[in-house]
This record gives sequence, structure tokens and C-alpha cells, in this order.
Amino acid sequence: MPKVFLSAQGQSFPCARDERFLDAANRAGFRLPVSCKNGVCEICHARLIEGKAWQGRATRKTKRATPAASEEILLCHSGPETDCIIYVENVYGPGELPVKKFVCQIEEVTEMQAHVFRVRLKAPAGKLPEFYAGQYLSLDLPEREGAHYFSIACAPGQREIELHIQADPHIEAAVETVNFLRQERLVKISLPFGESCLHTIPEQPVILLAAGTGFAQMKSLIEFLWQNNFKHPVHLYWTVRKASDLYAETLAEDWAAQYTNFNFSKLIGEAQDEQCTEHHEGLAEAVLADALPLKIAKVFVSGSPKLVFSVKHRLTQAGMPETAFYSDVLEYAKPEDFGF
Ligand code: FES
Repeated sequence: MPKVFLSAQGQSFPCARDERFLDAANRAGFRLPVSCKNGVCEICHARLIEGKAWQGRATRKTKRATPAASEEILLCHSGPETDCIIYVENVYGPGELPVKKFVCQIEEVTEMQAHVFRVRLKAPAGKLPEFYAGQYLSLDLPEREGAHYFSIACAPGQREIELHIQADPHIEAAVETVNFLRQERLVKISLPFGESCLHTIPEQPVILLAAGTGFAQMKSLIEFLWQNNFKHPVHLYWTVRKASDLYAETLAEDWAAQYTNFNFSKLIGEAQDEQCTEHHEGLAEAVLADALPLKIAKVFVSGSPKLVFSVKHRLTQAGMPETAFYSDVLEYAKPEDFGF
């Protein structure tokens, strides 16, 4: 497979001969300037410095002309015949998306189940919010100071953004947030944030552990994997305090019915206390009981710091490399503060 070298960034990615530069770069986690993806707006122009490329309407069969070295090409409209060196500006490498602000329309605020609300926001036309599956955003709420972070519950690549907000009556800040979103038409957001995400399609099994609305982050990851025809096993474990907290159980069961490489396990606690977190304790044991390939899998965990550090500790003991463990908690909490 030809290799494409980005001369300005000093980085490269593989690109099949019948693949567009743009698609291969995105698959490898690069973000390039793009809009129409159809050879019209020319925002994706680049210069072919060395090598041979085809140019045409998305497939080689309809190629029109072969640009000479040093000629301008459109990355959504061309691909490699050989190894290529191209010059293009404003490229973000894997993990380098800049934080941007958007004023979004509030399209929907609906209670799904058990005080969990689905919020759908829509970015302005022509402004695609860029993020990686698994990242989170900040809502700018005029009445409340500071940042208000929520996991993004959908895959990237669309103007619509979905959030799941748990607004139990005793969680005052969340109730206020939901009330604000219900009353207003527009809200300002900043994104993306977080390193617990997928820049590219993994080449190994993926294990996803979620507590409560931690499911939102897993939904983003799972939808991204399905969009990219992921064939390795995906294991989702979802732990909740009581059965009614499985607010998207039908969706998880639909995935299990539709994708043979998807396994869904639910763990329901018995705790009566609304604020009790002891129902988390069986999560790592459930994973270990299923004898999953911890030495080669990527593991994503979303939940409280205590849950995340206890799962990390237990799975590391069982052979999981620390570098294969991803959680937003690792960015703001220290294990020693939670006894690990
Ligand atoms: S994205 Fe518009 S021409 Fe390539």
C-alpha cells in the first residue's frame, strides 16, 4: 500500500491505490480542511511534491488527469498511484484537534428514563464540530460559573451532538442545567476535551465499562466503531444502581442482535440508597469471569474515580497493560486519593 508523507508536518499514513487521500488521512486520525468532499469548494487543496497520484471523481475508474509533481491536487478528489509526498497546511495530527466554540440550536430535551435526559444540539450550517469518539464538551451556562462538562453520546462527523444528562432531583446543578436547556433555544458549547477516545480504528478487541450515564461515552465509541465496519470483538459492561437506570437498554440489545461481534452485559446493584455507589464493585470481577483477552484489548472505563481506579487496579493485576486503559478520570484524579 502506498505511503503518503505530509512534508509540512513530518508525518505519514498509508493510503490504498483506490482510496482518496482524504479518507485515508481521516482513518489514520489526521484532520484536514474539508467541506464539500466533492471537488467543488477546493478547501482541501494540497500540492503534490513527489510521486504519482490519480485525480477524478472519488474512484480511479473515473479519473480525469494525472497531476504532475508540484501541481495542485484536491485531497477529496485524488489518491496515490505510488508513494507520495504532499504539502498541505492546517492539518491536525492524531489527538491534536483545537478547542472551538459553537452556538448550537437546542433541538431536543427529552427524559429517556429514570431522570436521564437526552439533549440534542445542532451546530450552525457549514460548521462541523470536530471531536474524536469518546471525547466530551463543555456547556456555557450563563447563570452558573465555571465549565460544565458532558460526554458526547454520538459519533463524530455530523452537525448534531447528543448528550445524556442525569438530573436526579437531589443533583441541583444537573436539574438547573436541564431546566436551562428546556427554556432556551441556543446554547454555547466548547469542544473537544479528553484523551479517553479513539483517534483511529483499533486493531484489537475493545472492552467498554460504564457506570450510569457513563454509557454516553461508550455510545459514542460504539457508533464510531460500527460506522467504520469494526470487526474485532466489542464487550460492553453497564453497571447501574437499579434496573430502571438502564435508560438505553433497548439500544444495547439492538446492537447485540445486529452485530455478532458485540456482547452486552448488565450489572444491576441492589442498593436502596440513591447515592450509594457500592453497586460498582462487581464490575472488574465480571470482566475477569468472562476471561477476555486483557493483554491485547483496549479498555475504556467511565464512572466515578473510585470505580475507575479499582477496576484499573484489578485488571492490571490480571495482565492488562496500563497503557491500554483509558478513562477521563485519569486526567483529573490521583489514585492515592482513593486508596490505590
Ligand atoms: S472538500 Fe471541497 S473540494 Fe475537497
